[in-house]
Amino acid sequence: MVTPSLWSFLFRVYIVFILSARADAKRPFSCTGGVVYFTAHPVDGLLYQNPDLLHDIYVFKCVTTVVLTSGDRGTGGNFSLSLERGLQEAYALMAGLPISDVTQGEETVQIGTHHVHSWSLNELPNIQIIYLRLADSLPSGHGYAMHGNDSLAQLYSAKIDSIATTDSLARYTLRDLKEVIAFILHSRKPTYIRMLNHKAVTSAGDKHAEHLDHADHVVSAKLVQRVITGEKLQANVQSYGGNNVRKFEANVNSTHRDFGRKANAFFKYAAYDEHMCQSLDECSSGFYDGDTGSLVDDDVRYVAQYLGREYYVL
Ligand SMILES: *[C@@H]1O[C@H](CO)[C@@H](O)[C@H](O)[C@H]1NC(C)=O
Ligand SMILES: *[C@@H]1O[C@H](CO)[C@@H](O)[C@H](O)[C@H]1NC(C)=O
Ligand SMILES: *[C@@H]1O[C@H](CO)[C@@H](O)[C@H](O)[C@H]1NC(C)=O
Repeated sequence: MVTPSLWSFLFRVYIVFILSARADAKRPFSCTGGVVYFTAHPVDGLLYQNPDLLHDIYVFKCVTTVVLTSGDRGTGGNFSLSLERGLQEAYALMAGLPISDVTQGEETVQIGTHHVHSWSLNELPNIQIIYLRLADSLPSGHGYAMHGNDSLAQLYSAKIDSIATTDSLARYTLRDLKEVIAFILHSRKPTYIRMLNHKAVTSAGDKHAEHLDHADHVVSAKLVQRVITGEKLQANVQSYGGNNVRKFEANVNSTHRDFGRKANAFFKYAAYDEHMCQSLDECSSGFYDGDTGSLVDDDVRYVAQYLGREYYVL
């Protein structure tokens, strides 16, 4: 027989359960509208979507960047955490905030049924980065042995069923990834969506193709494009040229304030990325990481060109 006091006990247990369930399911976004950026690697936005990124941080004050891969070039260890740290410092710099301990503001948020790593600026929580930490790949789309040869390109072309995260906390199928992207866009409700070049071809093809690009760039953008179309999302969508923009004329004038701000943000990041050149002089003088030649791809080789360019894909 259930006595009144047992009912009251069960009711209290139920209340506690509800409260703790709420506390676990932290709301992933603190604002709506503004802009959501999608990039493949942590550095991409700083090279290919800037100075738009730094303007958006000033204008909208509601900026979420979703970084799909770890960007660790198959090195493993804690190198990808270092890249995240560098990106966070670059964001703090662009937001004009003191760069204190940017590891504050890191948390796990729930995106649909998935738990993902999120960071937001301490004093400006509407500036946020979400890291999916998927395995990084070679420009050709081949995976690195360190990550079991997994790659976004192979997932996209159904050569593998799922891709692991570099923190080993999850595996995502193509369907999972689309769900995550769709959930983010539905609940974050951006006015603008910015991504990389979904029309490019990967550098596995003709090396001299005008529009070749890193497979992670292309596939991340194609995925987002498919979700936007499939979900009939209403937003202003902009794709940005990636590796191939170096073939076009410089259009970020090096005497303009924006060039300096873009370069400063990049070098703030680069201090945490040993594969990158560390100053304008070094980047312009054909710097590349000679000892680890196999790691050098176009992202690293042409930094000086990227800093002076930002192109929309029409
Ligand atoms: C990575 O590990 C090294 C050596 O243990 C440590 O010095 C460094 O602070 C770590 N970096 C990050 C970002 O955790
Ligand atoms: C990854 O590819 C390399 C080279 O093709 C191969 O030797 C290795 O066994 C592969 N690893 C896995 C986990 O499939
Ligand atoms: C860059 O800006 C300077 C100063 O405003 C100007 O003299 C120069 O012509 C510009 N260069 C280009 C390539 O537009």
